[in-house]
Amino acid sequence: MPSLDQALPAALAARENLLPDLHTQGTDCYRLFHGSQEGAGGLTIDRYGPQLMVQSFHQTLSRDELLALHEQVNETLGFATLLVYNDRSKGNSRVDRSDAVYSANDNALVDLVGREWGLNYRVRGRHAGQDPLLFLDLRNARGWVQRHAAGKSVLNLFAYTCGVGLNAAAGGASEVVNLDFAEGNLAVGRENGALNPDLPAMQFVQSDYFPAIRQWAGLPIAARRGQKLPSYPRLDQRQFDLVFLDPPAWAKSAFGTVDLLRDYQSLLKPAILATAEDGTLVCCNNLAKIAMDEWREQVLRCAAKLGRPVREYEQLQPAQDFPSQDGNPPLKTLVLHF
Ligand SMILES: C[S@@+](CC[C@H](N)C(=O)[O-])C[C@H]1O[C@@H](n2cnc3c(N)ncnc32)[C@H](O)[C@@H]1O
Repeated sequence: MPSLDQALPAALAARENLLPDLHTQGTDCYRLFHGSQEGAGGLTIDRYGPQLMVQSFHQTLSRDELLALHEQVNETLGFATLLVYNDRSKGNSRVDRSDAVYSANDNALVDLVGREWGLNYRVRGRHAGQDPLLFLDLRNARGWVQRHAAGKSVLNLFAYTCGVGLNAAAGGASEVVNLDFAEGNLAVGRENGALNPDLPAMQFVQSDYFPAIRQWAGLPIAARRGQKLPSYPRLDQRQFDLVFLDPPAWAKSAFGTVDLLRDYQSLLKPAILATAEDGTLVCCNNLAKIAMDEWREQVLRCAAKLGRPVREYEQLQPAQDFPSQDGNPPLKTLVLHF
């Protein structure tokens, strides 16, 4: 990776003012190098508390590159971070290579704790899934939830490890429900809850999105012709004051397809119906190829067609550790007030 020599020092210098601010706000999980925008596409370097998580998506880093970047980051942060390198450039290949620098020390791979907005999160360098347990570009949106959840019932859809739910609980929500179909992800959400023992308990619903949201929204659950649906948890129709919708780009299940490019509406409609009449829906779209303007129009049109016009909206941007040269970051977040 020829450009890293110059690109990494520039990225670290660009964060000179940001890092003290983040530390002051109780955050030690952030992106130190956002390769696609900072001169080395396919490389990300993230701090997760004591751990330094390096991920490559296009080509494997050499031993020397890895050692050099680790040293530079340690110098900037002023302590010896625990290096984990996950090379995702060859399919599912996070396999350790022969040199010890690729395999990570045992103390980097044990369960660790990172902090964000004053909350504790489980940090695990390698686990059954591919992605780290906390998506860092959503930090500002989680902070927004913490500041706006007081007294509200909060529904966290596609909850993953329940970071949004945790912020709602910390912000004084009256009730927090996290929904995801993956038990392993909710289990980490429970761990995150346990790592913040002063917070009120959250609820966890393990279900496919479509039957759950349609039941809450009071919509029928239809099977495709000739197909029998798998069983799903029964839920009562109800609405929530604050709903957070952050789906993956694409996922297929027996109940439907999550497809942010072709069909955001089928996710959005029931989520709007499950939002209280004067409630708030925060929705996200992380597909780089969809521009904010186009997606915002789709979202506003969908709400109006449902008879639930948006009274006011705001856009949330990822923080400066996710710079965007064209002002169009992949993660787009809209707060819709009804
Ligand atoms: C990109 S993550 C969402 C990130 C999350 N909102 C956060 O705050 O970190 C995608 C999550 O959606 C879940 N998921 C994907 N398809 C689903 C479906 N049909 N029903 C329920 N959960 C689903 C996955 O298990 C995963 O936890």
